[in-house]
Amino acid sequence: MPVETIYWKSGKVRFINQTLLPHKLKYVSTDDIYRLWRAIKALEIRGAPALGIAGALGAIVGIKDSKAKDFRKFFGELKKVTKYIGSSRPTAINLFWALERMKGAAYRHRKESISRIKNILLKEALKIIYEDKRNCRRMARYGASLVRKGSRILTHCNAGGLATADYGTALGVLFEANKQGKRIKAYVDETRPLLQGARLTTWELMRAGIDTTLICDNMAAGIMAQGKIDMIFVGADRIAANGDAANKIGTYNLAVLAHHHKVPFYVVAPLSTFDFRIKTGKEIPIEERDGDEVRALCGRMVAPRNVKVYNPAFDVTPNELITAIITEKGIFKKPYEPRTFLKARDG
Ligand code: MRU
Repeated sequence: MPVETIYWKSGKVRFINQTLLPHKLKYVSTDDIYRLWRAIKALEIRGAPALGIAGALGAIVGIKDSKAKDFRKFFGELKKVTKYIGSSRPTAINLFWALERMKGAAYRHRKESISRIKNILLKEALKIIYEDKRNCRRMARYGASLVRKGSRILTHCNAGGLATADYGTALGVLFEANKQGKRIKAYVDETRPLLQGARLTTWELMRAGIDTTLICDNMAAGIMAQGKIDMIFVGADRIAANGDAANKIGTYNLAVLAHHHKVPFYVVAPLSTFDFRIKTGKEIPIEERDGDEVRALCGRMVAPRNVKVYNPAFDVTPNELITAIITEKGIFKKPYEPRTFLKARDG
């Protein structure tokens, strides 16, 4: 059973503080928009689809106390709230996609009373959660159809239940293959600097009873050279119209290695992770984070305090290195055609 990472309960957003895992499973409840913003910024809530959900629920808590009497005023306040939430992290398009959806839902019902619009917004947020759960299951089934019995699978960062409302994207494939009795073996990159692989992915896989081996990021090449990896599944934070995919820093390294070692490299992401307004990955905004995340390891300084650091949180894998992109509407193989993705999304 996947963990409930983020949901709506008794008028509050309830979420797991992921910075405390794997040693402490602690839920936080809040109806304070500033607390939610900090939770997103500090990666207490993280992973592209989960950020979308946080955005949608954030819009609810941000607007709940509005005293606006007319739609114009209410919509102005909602726009301010969504802009504020969107200022937390720039890369995962799911966050902005969900915020746009919330604004769209309000606007479509602009003739209704403000209290009814507030109810409509809550319904929209719950719909986003429901759809994410359904999409996770669909992606998992498509992805698992590519997995053979006994496959040894490498993954990076955390694209599991903690990053979504349900099963995860890339990890959903592993959960489903395991459920189908394929007896897979998982290799997990620790994923420096913030160790989402070591802390979160291992925790999720082991809870599901999957044979899990943790490796340092710099071991991936050697392990592939030894022929120990059959396939790679990763998630994505934003995919450009041409299939270039941004994901946790280090994903591109894996894609290059996979190409060299002829290991299939799959990206698993819902269509809400696509940004059709941008043609290539060059246009994807990449978040840069505090240098102390690199200088320190689990809160302990390991480098000189004043050393210069470059800390991009994501990199972009060019589409030609991606064997296929697995979505809730099926598996898309190279060469990637924006029209095909759009047809699937709207069809
Ligand atoms: O910085 P994070 O932990 O939010 O980065 C998350 C990732 O890179 C995930 O792989 C991505 O969001 C896909 S999640 C299903």
